[in-house]
Amino acid sequence: MVTLERITADNFEECISLTLTERQRDFIASNAYSLCEAYALTNHELYTPMPYAIYHGDRMVGFTMAIYQPKDYNDPEDDEDVYYLARIMIDQQYQGRGYGKAALQKMIDLIKTFPHGPATCVVLSSNPENEPAYSLFKSFGFREMGMMDAGGDNYLRLDL
Ligand SMILES: CC(C)(COP(=O)(O)OP(=O)(O)OC[C@H]1O[C@@H](n2cnc3c(N)ncnc32)[C@H](O)[C@@H]1OP(=O)(O)O)[C@@H](O)C(=O)NCCC(=O)NCCS
Repeated sequence: MVTLERITADNFEECISLTLTERQRDFIASNAYSLCEAYALTNHELYTPMPYAIYHGDRMVGFTMAIYQPKDYNDPEDDEDVYYLARIMIDQQYQGRGYGKAALQKMIDLIKTFPHGPATCVVLSSNPENEPAYSLFKSFGFREMGMMDAGGDNYLRLDL
């Protein structure tokens, strides 16, 4: 069974030692970068980071992170409360076993409890050339928003 577990002093080193193929590393930040980002956002006035290790039983197989982003009333273009699915990765040796799909479902189930506040959708950005990830997101009902992020990846959304 796949579970999402908190990153702690006991498991963060294992998390940053998870690996991807060289090609996949082009599509996602390293787990070390993501954990630094989560730490840096801890005291952000708006955003709340939600980093989790993905376990299959007792074994860590991946990492995922969402960021709760309520609307910024100082930004007229920011008119929606969203959970941003910033990262999801499964270590290369454990891919293709259904763990990514199960972990994404767990993260969406968690988001649907609105742990840090209300939201209307889950948003993420992904590169269509990243076929496994893109088709995974599409299979969950994520749809293109017709916008790209700064890196040229498509924004996708899943209404809640
Ligand atoms: C995307 C990723 C998390 C999927 O994890 P996984 O455990 O290998 O995926 P699963 O075994 O759960 O497969 C789930 C779905 O992914 C898709 N998928 C997985 N491998 C695939 C492949 N080689 N080609 C096409 N689609 C694939 C399929 O839609 C599959 O669903 P299905 O089995 O019902 O057809 C994993 O490939 C990964 O870590 N990629 C690198 C990191 C990354 O790019 N993250 C996303 C950044 S936006």
